[in-house]
Amino acid sequence: MKTIKSISDTYTLSNGLEIPCMGFGTYNPTGGDNCEIIKTAIRAGYRYFDTASLYGTERALGQAVKESVAESGLDRKNLFIVSKLWTDEMGYHEAKNAFERSLERLQMDYLDMYLIHWPKQSEDDNAWKERSMETWLAMEELCMAGKIKGLGLSNFLPHHMAHICENAKVMPVADQLEVHPGYMQEAALAGCRQHRMMVQAWSPLGRSRLLSDPLLQRLAQKYGKSPAQICLRFLLQQEIIPLVKASGEVRMKENMDIFDFEIEAEDMGLLQCMPQTAWSGEHPDFAVPSVRSNFAQ
Ligand SMILES: NC(=O)c1ccc[n+]([C@@H]2O[C@H](COP(=O)([O-])OP(=O)(O)OC[C@H]3O[C@@H](n4cnc5c(N)ncnc54)[C@H](OP(=O)(O)O)[C@@H]3O)[C@@H](O)[C@H]2O)c1
Repeated sequence: MKTIKSISDTYTLSNGLEIPCMGFGTYNPTGGDNCEIIKTAIRAGYRYFDTASLYGTERALGQAVKESVAESGLDRKNLFIVSKLWTDEMGYHEAKNAFERSLERLQMDYLDMYLIHWPKQSEDDNAWKERSMETWLAMEELCMAGKIKGLGLSNFLPHHMAHICENAKVMPVADQLEVHPGYMQEAALAGCRQHRMMVQAWSPLGRSRLLSDPLLQRLAQKYGKSPAQICLRFLLQQEIIPLVKASGEVRMKENMDIFDFEIEAEDMGLLQCMPQTAWSGEHPDFAVPSVRSNFAQ
């Protein structure tokens, strides 16, 4: 297990790519100016930004990066930018077009990582396997052309990833899953380990629903940290990359302040074995989010 000491530390993915140990989420920003929120996160020290065509935040992220580079001399190469194609952008030609649209909105000429956001279009989607393989083929070509540094999946459970891993020329290096205390997805984590995929945890705070949980509150008091910091540290100690979202600088900094303490093994066990808590209700086989973001693209 690599020792991580600060938000600038990275892990090495199975294809050799370096990935920051923690990311900043851009889904569903709470009011305010998205571009300014992301610029604040860059100033705070976040280097890894997670977006998706679904979120409607690619333009704001692209603008924030552009302005930060101009204002502070930050190099785009030192940022790790991840986007995802949505289910209605899957298929060989659709995926290539979706990627170009994302790049255009982001005002970038490459992505650090590109993910298939969700495996199925609906619960009774019978063509998902073929569609995801065609999509993967297009993504592989984009990767081999140097436009994407690493390919990945999101919300793919072991039975969704098997055919891709068996047939891929470029292997997926990561899977982005809902993972937090109270929703540990052990089978999915084992599938990722088997295929050498890094796990990125979405909703690491259970969209803040975890923060009032009595166990999180008790551990927060014991370690002199906040419940949010306990959730994030818990993931970090398992080499899981938390993707956390916060709208203001105080919380952004609080969420980064997790490198100076260690959760003891017994408490890790308590957190790992919590009964199901704060699950989003979104299951890749049964509940496909269908609403595109209201935010202007
Ligand atoms: N791949 C997928 O299907 C998928 C699905 C969902 C999310 N994601 C990614 O994962 C990212 C994070 O997930 P999420 O936004 O759903 O949930 P989250 O990060 O678990 O929770 C965000 C919520 O927690 C609050 N918060 C943040 N830090 C806090 C702190 N220190 N103390 C108290 N409250 C705090 C935020 O409030 P404020 O904003 O008001 O500060 C916000 O309401 C998303 O932004 C997105 O990039 C991916």
